[in-house]
Amino acid sequence: MSERTLVLVKPDGVERGLVGEVIARIERKGLKLAALELRTADRATAEQHYAEHDGKSFYNDLVDFITGGPLVALVVEGTRAIPAFRQLAGGTDPVEKATPGTIRGDFGIEVQYNLVHGSDSAESAEREIKIWFPNL
Ligand code: CMP
Repeated sequence: MSERTLVLVKPDGVERGLVGEVIARIERKGLKLAALELRTADRATAEQHYAEHDGKSFYNDLVDFITGGPLVALVVEGTRAIPAFRQLAGGTDPVEKATPGTIRGDFGIEVQYNLVHGSDSAESAEREIKIWFPNL
């Protein structure tokens, strides 16, 4: 069954010129783009997106970072799109968890600057797509 997931190429990924690389991997996997926008997130959007991390030690830095430059927000769809993109992304920590061959494993070093975000469940995907693409 087809499903949708929210993907962000975070400001570090845009700054490093990895947008095309990420999109190519999504498309080669067999997933489709349903929406795509380059934008600089405002604080309210970032705080909504990362609400579950409010109170954690890295929360303020994370919101500063994600609002600090342009990012690319995408809705990606296809069969098993949510776990399929998380497989492409690799684990949250680019060195300790992500393996070579994944986006984070191939291009990342630090956990904060881990290049991409992908929804972690159907509930998160629905919530996050509404935040970034309310008219979709
Ligand atoms: P993401 O998949 O977007 O979800 C939450 C983000 O918080 C995560 O990617 C990382 O960018 C960031 N994050 C998670 N753990 C840490 C940490 N220990 N220190 C800094 N940032 C973190």
